[in-house]
Amino acid sequence: MQTVLITGAASGIGRDTARLFAGAGWQCVLVDHNAPALQQLGRSLPAPASAPHQLRAVDLTDPVQIASLGDDTPRLDAILNNAGMSDASNTPLAEQDAAQMARLLALNLAAPAAVVDACGPLLKPGARIVNVASGAGLHAIPWRGAYSPSKAGLIAQSLALAQARPDLCVTVLAPGFVRTELVDGLIQAGRLKPEGALGKIPLGRMAAPEEMAQALYFLASSGAAPLRGQILAVNGGSSVHGGSQPLPPATLPPLPLDTPLQLEVCGGEGEAWQGVAPTAAEQPHYAASLDLSPLHCASAGVLQAVHAAAARFAARYTQQASLTLLLPSAQPRRWQDAGDGAAARMMVSTLACEWGSRALRINALEVPSGVDPQTLHPLLRFFCGSAAQYLTGQTLVCSAAAPGTPR
Ligand code: NAI
Repeated sequence: MQTVLITGAASGIGRDTARLFAGAGWQCVLVDHNAPALQQLGRSLPAPASAPHQLRAVDLTDPVQIASLGDDTPRLDAILNNAGMSDASNTPLAEQDAAQMARLLALNLAAPAAVVDACGPLLKPGARIVNVASGAGLHAIPWRGAYSPSKAGLIAQSLALAQARPDLCVTVLAPGFVRTELVDGLIQAGRLKPEGALGKIPLGRMAAPEEMAQALYFLASSGAAPLRGQILAVNGGSSVHGGSQPLPPATLPPLPLDTPLQLEVCGGEGEAWQGVAPTAAEQPHYAASLDLSPLHCASAGVLQAVHAAAARFAARYTQQASLTLLLPSAQPRRWQDAGDGAAARMMVSTLACEWGSRALRINALEVPSGVDPQTLHPLLRFFCGSAAQYLTGQTLVCSAAAPGTPR
């Protein structure tokens, strides 16, 4: 049995995440300051086979209470630092004093590090730590107090932890807009206009909390090892969109997140990659293409290969499908070739913006030369499949080695 500690478990993303892990047989250590909501959640979860779930009513702005998390907690396979708060006060930053920002910074920035410090000795070898940041940590969102600074700080802290602890798998989840209590609160407070937000999201819709739960479930698994030190931005493509015209809304609701994957592998000697997923015979299925051609193309031909692969995919699929491209490492031998790789990655993002309203997704993975395809199979299943229907426009860098060995 595996054990996960989830903070901010009593509502929104954390609550759906707790349900997903408990349903899959994990023992959950659930942390939140909202004790009644935590109790209610605990009662609704299926009990694990051996040890019971633990419910820990802790105020994560209080370092003394956080330190107590190390007591009586079982050995951990994963920590998900999910608790966070926004600032709906509408007070301009320059008019806020340190006291007004203190609670938000304590929860969003200081608490994740303190939780890792408190629970560090409990982590099993190769354990996963996932810090839930936000798109707000990548691009400034004004009139939300210190929310963006806190999340930018959390991203930097996570990447530093990944460097400092190569024996662990540390990643960041940067969600986009998710319809949770937090976002509903912002909408009710007039701090967020849904129409305006949708026009900036290539997939043309907000995410359901279950979609973040699926991403966290994957990042908490050993299959996430190649992504250590990476930021997974599950945001419908909003972080890659830089256009000024509103994007069209989604034309289709997402398929159920457990819809079986039907994957075609193309663009090269695919034998070692064929085993990524068994071909789903049943209907409905989620169609996906894994294209290896950019990986095998001649030096400085990556942009052309990405474009050709996209054209093939677009001719075959008109809606609700995913294209995942494997790219060679971005370190070209000659400086003259550096523009080719960057142009290819921006083409992935641009295509995501053009395709999004039809729920056509495109993502890329940079893979190191000589990588064992088997080590990437779980990652590819997630990227290609229905559980990642809010992931588009991203290029992530895979590391070859398992946790414990330097990159
Ligand atoms: P939520 O407000 O629905 O849930 C947050 C949970 O944290 C609640 O259960 C709350 O009781 C708990 N919490 C708040 N203060 C606490 C404290 N001092 N001690 C212990 N627990 C505390 O929020 P949501 O939307 O589920 O967000 C989860 C995470 O995802 C947050 O870190 C948020 O910043 C991040 N996020 C959310 C997005 C969204 O659109 N909902 C977008 C981007 C990031």
